[in-house]
Amino acid sequence: MPILVVEDKDSLRTMLRKTLESRGHTVDEAGDAYEARKKLQATRYLLVLTDLRLPGGSGFDVLEAAREADPETPVIVMTAFGTVEEAVRAMKQGAADFLTKPVDTDHLLLLLDRAIDRRRLRAEYLLLKEEHQRRFGLPRVLGDDPGLKETMLAIQRAAQSDATVLILGESGTGKELMARSLHQLSSRAKAPFVAINCAAIPEALLENELFGHERGAFTGANARKIGKAETAQHGTLFLDEIGDLPLALQAKILRLVQERQFERVGGLATISVDVRVVAATNRSLTEAVAQKQFREDLFFRLSVLSVTIPPLRRRRGDIVPLAEAFLERYAAELGRKGLSLSEAARRALLDHAWPGNVRELQNSLERAVILVEGQAIGPEHLRLAPPAGEALSLGDVMDLSGPLAEVARRAAARAEDEAIALALRRADGDRAAAAASLGVSTSTLARRLKES
Ligand SMILES: Nc1ncnc2c1ncn2[C@@H]1O[C@H](COP(=O)(O)OP(=O)(O)OP(=O)(O)O)[C@@H](O)[C@H]1O
Ligand SMILES: [Mg+2]
Repeated sequence: MPILVVEDKDSLRTMLRKTLESRGHTVDEAGDAYEARKKLQATRYLLVLTDLRLPGGSGFDVLEAAREADPETPVIVMTAFGTVEEAVRAMKQGAADFLTKPVDTDHLLLLLDRAIDRRRLRAEYLLLKEEHQRRFGLPRVLGDDPGLKETMLAIQRAAQSDATVLILGESGTGKELMARSLHQLSSRAKAPFVAINCAAIPEALLENELFGHERGAFTGANARKIGKAETAQHGTLFLDEIGDLPLALQAKILRLVQERQFERVGGLATISVDVRVVAATNRSLTEAVAQKQFREDLFFRLSVLSVTIPPLRRRRGDIVPLAEAFLERYAAELGRKGLSLSEAARRALLDHAWPGNVRELQNSLERAVILVEGQAIGPEHLRLAPPAGEALSLGDVMDLSGPLAEVARRAAARAEDEAIALALRRADGDRAAAAASLGVSTSTLARRLKES
């Protein structure tokens, strides 16, 4: 693939072309932003090198055109000395790097190699990722937290029946993963798992997506379309974000759940299907019912068998093991060996509030594996967002409902568990030392460890 050089001054453009050609690259040239845009629409480039000040537009237009044409194409911008703000702005808009004028050819070649390398790695990474997902199918539900285990047990029990299941939990807690494992565990595993996100599809299209339509149902419907409810025949229909289901459709979903029947849009015939419905939401349906945004009858029907996935901040014990599992997964995908979490990184992970739950943790580890240069992942590679505003209250990390004595007992048990875990970590797993620092005997510590 060729490199595109965009520069209005002929002498500099020629110099750049020669430098790049000396490295064995093919080079295309453009003298202004307009010409550059035309070329970018016609050809795929390995890389774009552009001046920021150009006749007929600016380097920002070139940057935009390049990103439109192919977001994977790196763009290096050139700026005159003393206009760093512009370079910073360009980087924010997606430039891979910047170079100040007068251009130093060694520096140029260095940036070039780096950008091309990164692009190649990224492409390989995406391929590997796809291959991995194809080969290993779904990720397992990981974690030993008692709350999560309870949810998983409920899911296993539900899998034996055909009951409708409602999965509750904050965003990123693993609702879809749980729905998929429910499907895998059930006798429907060989039939399709079909997911539909009720929040992502505009109301007008949702019914059509769900139930399909007959030919001629509306202008443009020139063939019959089968909806997801039918595609899921003998399998599982996953209604994600059901809290966002428009009122108008709720009655139809209720009928689907109760009678497994519906009509296609514009159709008269009643269709019967054999599907299990699993629904999920991160909204409080009770509140939605109170606000008359959600039908009470549908809510009751869905709540017969509901499970709640605890947020990650309420299962702190799972944070580090999950992080290690994700680290291992991404390191294997990227062919990185010997990576590990530094002590400071573990502490940062434990101190973080995880508003985005497991998804946030997973993304953070994926980024860290890409960013880390040596073998030890530090807090700086995790890029954890600072906590929003006020500090965590106890209610954020534990369940404060129920009788006072019960709450106090839970809080004490919880504090002791964490103190023990911390003491063990500080003592590098040496139980005698940990017991001493906690002022208990080793046998008491051993008993407590067995209980928790
Ligand atoms: N316990 C877990 N073990 C392994 N991976 C998990 C676990 N929980 C969540 N994940 C992973 O975290 C990511 C987010 O999970 P998922 O999409 O199921 O969450 P969600 O609750 O549906 O989120 P949202 O409400 O944002 O749609 C997925 O990649 C999933 O594989
Ligand atoms: Mg989801």
